[in-house]
Amino acid sequence: MEFDTVIIGAGAAGMMCAAHAGGRVLVVDHAKAAGEKIRISGGGRCNFTNMYCGPDNFLSDNPHFAKSALARYTQWDFIALVDAHGIAWHEKTLGQLFCDTSAKEIVAMLRTLMDDAGVELRLNTSVSGIQKSNNHFTINLQHTDKQTKIKATNLIIATGGKSIPKMGATGFAYDVARQFDIPVTDTRAGLVPFTFEGGRFADISGTATPSKVTAGGTTFEEALLFTHRGLSGPAVLQASSYWHEGEAITLNLIPANDLLEKLRSQRQTSGRKNFTTELAHHLPSRLVDHLAGAFDLSGNLADWSDARLTELTDTLAAWQITPAGTEGYRTAEVTLGGIDTNALSSKTMMSKDVDGLYFIGEAVDVTGWLGGYNFQWAWSSGMAAARAL
Ligand code: FDA
Repeated sequence: MEFDTVIIGAGAAGMMCAAHAGGRVLVVDHAKAAGEKIRISGGGRCNFTNMYCGPDNFLSDNPHFAKSALARYTQWDFIALVDAHGIAWHEKTLGQLFCDTSAKEIVAMLRTLMDDAGVELRLNTSVSGIQKSNNHFTINLQHTDKQTKIKATNLIIATGGKSIPKMGATGFAYDVARQFDIPVTDTRAGLVPFTFEGGRFADISGTATPSKVTAGGTTFEEALLFTHRGLSGPAVLQASSYWHEGEAITLNLIPANDLLEKLRSQRQTSGRKNFTTELAHHLPSRLVDHLAGAFDLSGNLADWSDARLTELTDTLAAWQITPAGTEGYRTAEVTLGGIDTNALSSKTMMSKDVDGLYFIGEAVDVTGWLGGYNFQWAWSSGMAAARAL
C-alpha cells in the first residue's frame, strides 16, 4: 500500500498534522485510542493553549528554533479553530485556556478534521521496522499478529516523549533518529514534582501556599504544594524544568514581601501573643508548625527584635533546599530534550539530511512551560510540517 504521508503517533501533533497534510495520509498508533494525553490533560478540560504564548515560554538548546513555527501558527489560529467547532472555553489563570466542558471535544474536533480530510487511522498498530530508499520509506506495521508493509513519500514521527509510560509513551522517536544518524539531546523529566529524603514534608502533605520558586536561575511565582514525597504545585512544576540533579532550589514562602512590616506592626498590638500564633495569620498554620521544627520560632512576638524578625523573614524569602530527585517520567507532564533542533528545518520540521523525514511535537527538543504551551507547540509544529508536504 502506498501513501503520500505516514504519521506515527496519533497524539496532539500527529492528529493536527494529519488533519492539514493533504494527499493520502495514514496515521498509525500503538494505543487503542487517539489523543489519550489530550483527553486526560488539564484535569479532563485540556489547557489547549495560552494567550501569552511566545518563544520565551519554551526551553531548548536552541531558543530560536521554535520562533518560526509558533509565529506561523499562533495561539489565535488555534483559538479560531476551536471557535469554528463551537467549543466553549474560558481563561482559568495567566492566559491558560481550558474547555468549558471536556477535553474530549478537542479530540473529537481533530478526529472530525481528519475524517473530513480522508485520513486513515490505524490504532493498536506498532512499527517493527523502517527502511529508506531513494524516494520513499518502507514501513513494517504490526497489528495483532498480522504484519504489513507500506510505502510513503513522507514519514512524520509524532510519538512524543517518554512521560507517563503507563499511557504508552516510548522513546520511539529517539530510536528512529538514531537509526538515521540524527542527533538527540539528553532527555529528562520536566514539569515534575520534586522528591526529598525521609518524607521531609510528609507532616504537611496537602498544604498549599503562594510562593516563588527558583531553579537554575529562573523564578516562578505561583502556588506551592507540599506532598508526602516532597514538593509539587505549579511553581514547583515550572521550576523543575530548569533544575539539574544535585542543585539546590530556592523557596520564597513570603512572595508578597511584606511579612516583616506586618509582624512589626502586630508586635505593637499583640506582643504578648505566641510568635507562631501571629505568624499563622500569614502562613498556613500547618506550615508554621513545620517551620517551628526547622527554625527557632519560640517566644512571644514581643521577644522578637527587629534583627531576629529580619533574619527569619530573610530566611523564609530565600530558603535553599536540595531535592533528592524528581518523580521522573512516571508523573512528568513532559520530556525535556529530544531530537536535536540543529538537525531539523525550523520552518518545516524536516530533517536536514534525510529527505522526507519529519519530527514534530514533544519528540523535538522544544519544551514549553506549564499552562497550555506544550499543546501550542504540538499544534504549531504539526502545522509547520503539514504545510510543507
Ligand atoms: P503525545 O504524547 O500527545 O502523542 C504521542 C502519540 O504517539 C501517542 O498517541 C502514543 O500512543 C503514540 N506512540 C508513542 N510511542 C509509539 C510507538 N512506539 N508506536 C506507535 N505509537 C506510539 N500540555 C498542555 O499544553 N496543556 C495541558 O493541559 C497539559 N496537560 C497534561 C497532563 C498530563 C497528565 C500530561 C502527561 C501531559 C500534559 N500536557 C499538557 C503535555 C501534553 O500532553 C504534551 O506535550 C503533548 O501531548 C505532546 O503532543 P505529541 O503529539 O508530541 O505527543
